Amino acid sequence: MKILVVGGGGREHAIAWRLAQDEARHEIFCAPGNAGTAAIATNVAVGAEDVDGVAKWARENNPDLVVVGPEAPLVKGLVDRLLSLGIPTFGPVAAGARMEGSKRFAKEVMDAAGVPTGKAETFTDAAKAKAALPDYGLPVVIKADGLAAGKGVIVAETKEQAESAIDDMLVGNKFGAAGAEVLVEEFLHGEECSILAMVDGERAVLLPSSQDHKRIFDGDKGPNTGGMGAYSPAPVVTEDKLPLIKEKIIMPVVRELKRRGVTYRGILYAGLMVNDENSNPYGPLAKSGSTVNVVEFNARFGDPETEAVLPRLGGDFATALLHAATGRLADEDIVVKPEVGATVIVASGGYPGSYEKGKAISGLADVKDAVVFHCGTKSDGGEVLTSGGRVLSVTGLGATLREAVDKAYAGVSKISFDKMFYRRDIAHRAFERQ
Ligand code: AMP
Ligand code: GLY
Repeated sequence: MKILVVGGGGREHAIAWRLAQDEARHEIFCAPGNAGTAAIATNVAVGAEDVDGVAKWARENNPDLVVVGPEAPLVKGLVDRLLSLGIPTFGPVAAGARMEGSKRFAKEVMDAAGVPTGKAETFTDAAKAKAALPDYGLPVVIKADGLAAGKGVIVAETKEQAESAIDDMLVGNKFGAAGAEVLVEEFLHGEECSILAMVDGERAVLLPSSQDHKRIFDGDKGPNTGGMGAYSPAPVVTEDKLPLIKEKIIMPVVRELKRRGVTYRGILYAGLMVNDENSNPYGPLAKSGSTVNVVEFNARFGDPETEAVLPRLGGDFATALLHAATGRLADEDIVVKPEVGATVIVASGGYPGSYEKGKAISGLADVKDAVVFHCGTKSDGGEVLTSGGRVLSVTGLGATLREAVDKAYAGVSKISFDKMFYRRDIAHRAFERQ
């Protein structure tokens, strides 16, 4: 197949890499891609959010499939545009991507579909939002409604923090239009995990579970990031929870969207909070009574979850994506290998705050027993330079989690660049369970 992958991060490198592992040979293009995708695909000089540019390339090159990685072009309607040109495209239309693009809309859909999630209310008026705080106890979660690059969620430990988050969004306009509405949401206790469901409009197949590491420092300390590492499967997602997740969370959303006229095709990513305890486990409001509650939905593959999950898939990945994109997905399309996957993100020192770019990366060719996905890199002559906060994703696969994690870190130890930073405790929650 001739396939275009839209995006230029670790997720898109992992998608292109996994397509290149198929037994069938594909002709793979990435728009814009990065220094890593250049080695396995043809990079096209079109930005991921350039809807006109991608559509123009697709019209001229007529790919068999386009796979859209990031949320911004999904929300901007890139899929609608490509479908109008008759090009099979993996990813939801804009009306479906609202599950990620508007947290208020996602709550509305969940409520209509009876999906277990924290109680929440939406406000445009700061005084009213603050007046609601006592109903939610502490901690309480304040969220910007729209896309805010992962920065629009504040878990407030005190009333003062909650009030200043509300003021930042509604009065200070800190997130622009994305923060013009805020959600005040019940804090959910428990352990988080990610479920990527492949959806074809009618059916869903769950990909293997995974867990991200959102905070910058070891021990889950410091500010939130885009994700500092991941592993798959996540032991917190015990076998017995999978039918619950599919039948009570994923499928009700797919059906509710359908009822509203939206055929959702692509990945529906459920960020879930798992809590198996019996005594008042769900915070002050305990609305849902479920052991699994939805924290958020995303309309795409997770990053870095994808880098840990996709190397575990067998079978023909292009066919699975095409089947989902064209409403023909079957359980057999997803084949899971027994190996465990572990991914360590190598970042620029200073991230998620300010950091320097353009540092020469050495040692990439010395990584032997792990896969290196590029997240934020660019080629400069013969050199690979850093060009983002998250720079590389290093994935190890092993018979056990220990083996997978050790291989990932052995890979990381070969790589160096000025001010390189990474977490040293990836998968700690799973090890603590063992
Ligand atoms: P989101 O951008 O919605 O993924 O939120 C970012 C992070 O904030 C999540 O991964 C959680 O760690 C945390 N979070 C969001 N909503 C809640 C909630 N209702 N209860 C507890 N933690 C939350
Ligand atoms: N890893 C979190 C995300 O992709 O949103």
